[in-house]
Amino acid sequence: PSVDVGAYFDLDRGLIDRTIFGDAGLYRQELRRVFAPSWLFLAHESQFAKPGDFFTTYMGEDPVIVTMGRDRKLRAFLNACRHRGMRVCRADAGATKAFTCSYHGWAYDTSGKLINVPNGEDYPAHFEQEKWGLIEVAQLDTYKGLVFATWNPEAPPLVEALGGLAWYLDAMLDRDPEGTEVVGGVHKWVLEGNWKLAAEQFASDWYHVNISHASALMVMSPTGKGPKTEIVQTPGRQYTDPLGHGHGFPTHPKSRFDDRVVHDWYDYDALRERLGDARVEGPMTTGHGTVFPNFSYLPVNGSIRVWHPKGPDRMEVWAWTLVDRSMPDEVKDAQRIYNLRTFGPTGIFEQDDGENWSEVQATAHGFVSGSMTLNYQMGLGLETQDGIHPGTTGHLYSDGAARGFYTRWRDLMNTPAWHENVTEKDTP
Ligand code: FES
Repeated sequence: PSVDVGAYFDLDRGLIDRTIFGDAGLYRQELRRVFAPSWLFLAHESQFAKPGDFFTTYMGEDPVIVTMGRDRKLRAFLNACRHRGMRVCRADAGATKAFTCSYHGWAYDTSGKLINVPNGEDYPAHFEQEKWGLIEVAQLDTYKGLVFATWNPEAPPLVEALGGLAWYLDAMLDRDPEGTEVVGGVHKWVLEGNWKLAAEQFASDWYHVNISHASALMVMSPTGKGPKTEIVQTPGRQYTDPLGHGHGFPTHPKSRFDDRVVHDWYDYDALRERLGDARVEGPMTTGHGTVFPNFSYLPVNGSIRVWHPKGPDRMEVWAWTLVDRSMPDEVKDAQRIYNLRTFGPTGIFEQDDGENWSEVQATAHGFVSGSMTLNYQMGLGLETQDGIHPGTTGHLYSDGAARGFYTRWRDLMNTPAWHENVTEKDTP
């Protein structure tokens, strides 16, 4: 049964009941009503160079295979054999002609078709092999190199689902006429925290930077004292999208990449011509954003990541390094190393964040502590159209995008998804 989650929110007053982060029943509802109907990030196009290349990942907790077919089309399938549900692909990535189940040997080609059934003569005459292919996502599309998919046949096209965030996202994806690619592997690590803590923070939370990352900022400061005062007083904006996305960014008249090699490579006049002054001086700075529900990014660090839900108390972080295709190899490598130094699994900023989320989750297990009211009031009433940045923006130090994120989450949780209107037999 689904629960009305309205009672957990008073977002006009910036109040949220902590129950939404730890309740097992709400978590199951979240998989059905937030993850299943939404567009979810799968991979980057550059991970698939030739037919047969594949990558395995998750949509919510559903395991999926993303693969390029012989027609060079990208497809995504549930990574579950139609016979007994075994994972048909147990590798993280690779190249193959077929996915052969290691349990009884059913085999599927890269278009998902069931092409081999051992002992087929023992199946009855009415067994229709063509009907037992892998279950395919309802829609798959790409946005400037990023591959997304959804189980929801009624979801709007991807570009509509990204809404106004696309203008902000392009500060990372559209700097280079050649586009982007990912370099190095995919880093994966487990954190003992609810996935929303991370997604919300990347959409909205600049408040923590000066405190949680104080020691990291000191290490990175040329004087060793850290740019504490400047950070506290940093001007900036926070974009809140009605679809639940968010992006916060400081504004600097002179935008710059922190890594010296990367900084020296960029032609800032060309970037201004391509993206416009507002975008170069704003979202292309050291900000971060979230595409609702669980894809986040840091334009300057070159990190893109997914917060995979693994139960109410646990998430798995999967992170890639994104670079511009035109960069010479040494610049790509400098960007990769800078990203790992800051936001890799042992990155100096990443470790601070993980510690916060795990600690927050650990204190939510009590009866009283698990259902207390949390404060999301920062910046309430201060959001506006500033005439420079599209859509609604507020102060950099605000909970505005977090309130937008949870407004969307609440609405999806309280809306029957497409699969609740069809028979169980028809659902994926
Ligand atoms: Fe895959 Fe039996 S579970 S062949």
